[in-house]
Amino acid sequence: MKMKTQNIISLFEKHVIPNYNRVPCAITKGSGSWVWDADGKKYFDLFPGWGVSALGHCHPKVVEAIVKQAQELFHMPNNYYTKEQGLLAEMMGTHSGFDGRLFFCNSGAEAAETAIKLARLHTEKEKINIISAENSFHGRTFAAISATGQPNYREGFTPTVPGFIHVPFNDIEAIRAVVDENTCAIMIEPVQGEGGVIPAEKQYLEDVRKLCDEKEIVLIFDEVQTSPGRLGTIFGYQYFGVEPDIMTTAKALAGGLPMGAIMVKPEIALSLKPGTHATTFGGSSIVCAAAMVVFDELINGGLLENINKMADYISKKLVAMKEENLGIKEIRQCGLMIGIELDIAGSAVVRRCLDNGLIINCTHDTVLRMLPAYNITKEEIDFGLDVLKNALSNVPTTTC
Ligand SMILES: Cc1ncc(COP(=O)(O)O)c(C=O)c1O
Repeated sequence: MKMKTQNIISLFEKHVIPNYNRVPCAITKGSGSWVWDADGKKYFDLFPGWGVSALGHCHPKVVEAIVKQAQELFHMPNNYYTKEQGLLAEMMGTHSGFDGRLFFCNSGAEAAETAIKLARLHTEKEKINIISAENSFHGRTFAAISATGQPNYREGFTPTVPGFIHVPFNDIEAIRAVVDENTCAIMIEPVQGEGGVIPAEKQYLEDVRKLCDEKEIVLIFDEVQTSPGRLGTIFGYQYFGVEPDIMTTAKALAGGLPMGAIMVKPEIALSLKPGTHATTFGGSSIVCAAAMVVFDELINGGLLENINKMADYISKKLVAMKEENLGIKEIRQCGLMIGIELDIAGSAVVRRCLDNGLIINCTHDTVLRMLPAYNITKEEIDFGLDVLKNALSNVPTTTC
């Protein structure tokens, strides 16, 4: 059935809970870094699925893997073994550098939830405190909003889960000041994503690692946005050269399908015993088959090389744009995770880009965020940044 944008929006107005501020645009088709709306308009997508469709929309190898798997087996519950889950765990664990053990779930928040539960299980009962960073984002479940270092996400939900302490990001002394005998874990995003693309300093992560080793504290990296591949390394912590004890991941993991995971050092993994945690859907064969394509492309398909090359290309172009007085205050970039801090409000820029066929995101009012597909080309980057430049040159300048 053919439907126009307005017909689709009407369905939402009548039948869908209005808990999102939606863009007035209904996308019906995607291919690579391009999508089409219900009225036939084409857009270049520099924020594909919030970083989920990391091989672009409907990557042919992902489609092929899903179709093939769908003809054999979709899903078996986790009290059975499946080949696909085992092979994916092998692929991820062997590239972890620490013989990582995997637990598969369905989203980033669920991965955060699992990591928090495991940290509590692994340490003594009295140790309940988890230190996380101000301005962090860890998802929308109760434990995840409790860990999140932005009070607005907890509004209306207090009391939240006890034991979470928030300290300034990139400040080791702030962590030292609150660590005590009740500290169970430290939870950090190596690059704060929703918080405005703010990278951790390497020295900070090294100091946190050392502190965790000294005090027997579990170190959790929330890599829902930074792994796999986003920073130009398989896992984000490899970009910084600092290993966590538990890593969460989601978004790009299954090339567009819903999947989350935690990857854990073997000695800690043993604390997640039968009965302590579970999921019905997590690690289904069909989603694992899609995720294996992502890892195969990263490891054997030259994708990591492309991420690094294109990151460099974008970086040079953005630096040149900054010189042009377009309201760009700062550019923050790690691999293909890009934040452009403006000295004007970003929403009008995002809207103008959309009108001109470009999808980007704005976070924290003034930070334009881009999470391009890993197989993006130079020609596509040229196109996208030209539209962005045009938008920046023509928006009314509401100074923040
Ligand atoms: C670092 C981080 N952790 C957790 C989440 C939550 O992931 P999900 O929306 O899949 O639950 C996000 C989502 O943006 C995230 O960026």
